Amino acid sequence: MPKGKEFWSRDFATRFGHTKLVDEKDKYLFAAEPPRYRFNAIGTGTMGLEHLRVTMFEGRATIHGVYDPEPLSIANAESAFAAYTDEPLKIYDSLEAACNDPDVDGLIICTPNFTHIDVVRTAAKSGKHILLEKPVATTIADAHEIAQIAEKHPGIFQVGLQYRYKAIYTEAIHEALVRKTLGDIKVISMTEHRMAFLDKIGQWNKFSRLSGGTLVEKCCHYFDLINLFAQSKPARVFASGSMAVNFKEFEHEKGKSDILDNAMVVIEYESGVRASFGLAMFVPMFYEEIVLCGDIGRLRASENMDFLPGAALKSQLEIFGGETYPSRVTTPCYPVAIEESGHSGATFFEHVHFVDSIDAGKSDGPTPMDAFWSVVVGLAAEESVATGAVVEIERLLAEAGLQDANL
Ligand SMILES: NC(=O)c1ccc[n+]([C@@H]2O[C@H](COP(=O)([O-])OP(=O)(O)OC[C@H]3O[C@@H](n4cnc5c(N)ncnc54)[C@H](O)[C@@H]3O)[C@@H](O)[C@H]2O)c1
Repeated sequence: MPKGKEFWSRDFATRFGHTKLVDEKDKYLFAAEPPRYRFNAIGTGTMGLEHLRVTMFEGRATIHGVYDPEPLSIANAESAFAAYTDEPLKIYDSLEAACNDPDVDGLIICTPNFTHIDVVRTAAKSGKHILLEKPVATTIADAHEIAQIAEKHPGIFQVGLQYRYKAIYTEAIHEALVRKTLGDIKVISMTEHRMAFLDKIGQWNKFSRLSGGTLVEKCCHYFDLINLFAQSKPARVFASGSMAVNFKEFEHEKGKSDILDNAMVVIEYESGVRASFGLAMFVPMFYEEIVLCGDIGRLRASENMDFLPGAALKSQLEIFGGETYPSRVTTPCYPVAIEESGHSGATFFEHVHFVDSIDAGKSDGPTPMDAFWSVVVGLAAEESVATGAVVEIERLLAEAGLQDANL
C-alpha cells in the first residue's frame, strides 16, 4: 500500500467485487497503482499460472508475455490473463525472444526441473531480474553452476523457496531466529503427509532423472527450512524410503515411474544439530508440521487441509517456555484472498519480496546458495535410500567436483 493512502483490503475488494461497482473516474480507494515492472513467464503449467495470477493480484508488476512450447499451457495462460485485463498477452515463439524483449524487466522461470539449467543459462544473459522456481536443478553440479551465475547476475536473482513465507514458517522464523525464543536449537523434526504428485505436462515429475527425485522435487522446501533453522551446513544424511503405493503401475513413453512416495530422512549438521524429516504421499489431506527443540523452549507449527466440512484449524503454532517465559498457542494466517491466491499466501509474499528487492536493488534471500544446499540434502537422501548407506556430504560435493569450491 502506498504511504499516506487509506487502507483498503484486497480481500474485501476481490471477494466482494467492489472494485467493479464504480467507473475508473470515481476510483480513489480502489484506484490501482500502475504496475512498475513487466514480467515474462517462462513455462505456464500449474506453477506458471499461479505466478501469472499472483503477479496480477499483487499489482505492482504485470505480466507482459509468456513462452511455453505446449499449446494448452499457452491457452490456459491467455484465459487466466484475460480475467485481469483487456490488454494483449504477448506470446513468444522462442525462449531467446522471451528473455530478451526490451519491454520486459523480469523473467519468472516455471519450467520442469531438468530444464532449469538450460533456461537459466539463456535467461541470465539478458541481465533481467529472475525468479527461478525450486528445485533450482536436479544435480549438485547444475545447482552450483546456477548459484555462480546468480552471484554474477546484475539483476535480482530470487529462488522459489517460498514456503519461508507461509504464515506458520514466517512466525516460526521470527520466534526461533529473531527473538530466539527457543534458545539454541538442538533438534528439528518435520513431517509432510499429503496426496500423490499431481499430473503434469509430459508427466516429468514421475521420473527421478527429470525431477531430481521426490526428495529433491518436493522436499527441497522442507530441507531449506530445516537448513535455515539449523543455521549450519549438513554433514551427513541417512534415509530410508520406497514406492509403497503411488504410480507402481504407471507406464509412460518415458518409461516406468521410479519415484519415492514415502521416506524417513535423518540429517546431522556440522554444529551437532540433528534433524529428521518424514514423508508419506498417499493420505487424503495436506498436512505439514515442524517441531523445533531448543535449550530453553519448544515450538511446534502445523498446517492442515483435510477437505472435511467441519471447522478444523488450518494452522497452529505453539511455543512452550516451561518456567522460563509465557507459553502460547496461536493460529498464524493471512487474509482469505491472499491465502487462496496460492500456497497459503506464500506465493503472494514471495512476489512482494521479489518486487521489494527489485525496488531496493538487493535481495536478502532465499538465496541461490540456500537453494543449492536444499538440493544437496535432497540428493544425499535420494542416494542414501538407493544404497542403504549414510551419505557424507563432503564426499558428495567432491564427486561433483566441488572439493575446492569453498562452500
Ligand atoms: N514453489 C512451489 O511450491 C512449486 C509448486 C509447484 C511446482 N513448482 C515448480 O515449478 C516448476 C514447474 O512445475 P509445474 O507444476 O508448473 O509443471 P507443469 O508440468 O504443470 O508445467 C511446466 C510447463 O513448462 C513448459 N515447458 C517445458 N519445457 C519448457 C521450456 N524449455 N521452456 C518453456 N516452457 C517449458 C511445459 O510445457 C509446461 O507448460 C517446477 O520446477 C516445479 O518444481 C514449484
